[in-house]
Order: sequence, then structure tokens, then C-alpha cells
Amino acid sequence: MNVKIRKAVVTDTKEIVTINIKTWKIAYKGVIPQAHLDSLSINDKIPRWAETINNLKENRKEIFVAEISNLKGKELVGFSLGGPSHFEDFKIDGDLHAIYVLPKYWRQGIGTLLFNSIIKYFLNMKYKTMIIWALKDNSACNFYKKLGGIPKFHKTLTYCGKELDALGFFWNNLSDQYKF
Ligand SMILES: CC(C)(COP(=O)(O)OP(=O)(O)OC[C@H]1O[C@@H](n2cnc3c(N)ncnc32)[C@H](O)[C@@H]1OP(=O)(O)O)[C@@H](O)C(=O)NCCC(=O)NCCS
Repeated sequence: MNVKIRKAVVTDTKEIVTINIKTWKIAYKGVIPQAHLDSLSINDKIPRWAETINNLKENRKEIFVAEISNLKGKELVGFSLGGPSHFEDFKIDGDLHAIYVLPKYWRQGIGTLLFNSIIKYFLNMKYKTMIIWALKDNSACNFYKKLGGIPKFHKTLTYCGKELDALGFFWNNLSDQYKF
């Protein structure tokens, strides 16, 4: 499969939101309350994502998309979003805010490509440290461990009244860990 990683543009918004919501509904089934997953709507989320994509530069953020070509033409199958960390408890440079790959394409290396694109962006920004938050019961924790993250921080997130533990995976020296 030929996967191209490129920077997102505003015309990608609907596909990015679709990947985000489709993946949430499958990855977080049985973890996040079903009422919350059922309430997610693509159309509701488009304006905020379009604003995010339009203001990437001002906010020092970047979004990368994974694009494949098939008989239907070009299709986006994943994305990653990174920017400055706003974690108050500990000074950290970068935050990988989101990384999502459509379930049909899991375990084919696309997540790693999207992750590496954010690392390259952070290295370019001279960032040394990075954090990623993940729900403790999310199998993505294995992905972050595999890619060198150390589970170091904790917080609680609440969805529909249910409290869930989240882990903050920490990378403490990106330029030592990643040589591209
Ligand atoms: C996390 C995610 C982006 C990983 O994408 P991916 O394309 O499947 O990742 P890769 O194929 O590059 O995986 C690289 C390695 O990470 C590990 N890994 C990835 N997913 C894993 C899983 N579910 N369970 C155990 N290990 C996993 C494996 O070691 C894998 O290598 P291998 O397949 O050769 O064994 C994808 O599973 C996803 O979109 N999950 C749902 C959304 C989500 O939870 N995002 C994170 C929000 S915090």
C-alpha cells in the first residue's frame, strides 16, 4: 500500500473529522460511555476543526494526514495533530494532541509514520520534551510505549459522569531518541 504523509489543508476538514469520529466510536467502545459516543456528530465538529486548520501557524500547531490512492481515488486514512504543551504541572515543550488511524488500517505502520511526522516538526521547532495523553484502558498505550514514551503523569477525564484515568506519556529528549 502506498501511503503519502502530507500537511493538512482546510479542504481535508470533513475527512479528518470523519476519521476522528469513526475511530473514536470503535476504539473507545466499552471504555467511554456509549451515550457520549452516540452523541458525536461529524457536522457539529467541522467548524472547530476548520478553525484549527486555518490557524495552525498562529498557534504553532501542525496536522499531518495519511493519504492512500485506491480505485475510488485518494482517501485519507489517518491524521496526527501536534503543538505546544499547555500542561501546568510540568514544563513540557510539545503535545501530540491527537493521532488517529481508521481501524481498517491499524497495525500497518501508518500510525508510526504520522507520529514520526510530528516528531520531525517538534525537532524543527527545537522542542526537547513531549507529552501525549491517553486513556489508561486504551490499547494506544502500547503504541506509545513501543515508540519510547514513559507513563509519567496522571489525570482524570469525565465523560457523561463517568470518571476515567488518563496517562501522560513523556519523552524527555527527542533529539537523542529520534534520528531521521
Ligand atoms: C494508536 C494508533 C494511532 C496506532 O496506529 P497504527 O497505524 O495501528 O500503528 P502502527 O501500525 O504504526 O503500530 C506500531 C507498533 O505499535 C504497537 N501497537 C500499535 N497498536 C497496538 C495495539 N492496539 N496493541 C498493542 N500494540 C500496538 C505495535 O508494537 C506496533 O507494531 P507491530 O504492529 O509491528 O507489532 C491507532 O491504533 C489508533 O488510531 N487508535 C485509536 C485512536 C487512539 O486511541 N488514538 C490515540 C488517542 S490518545
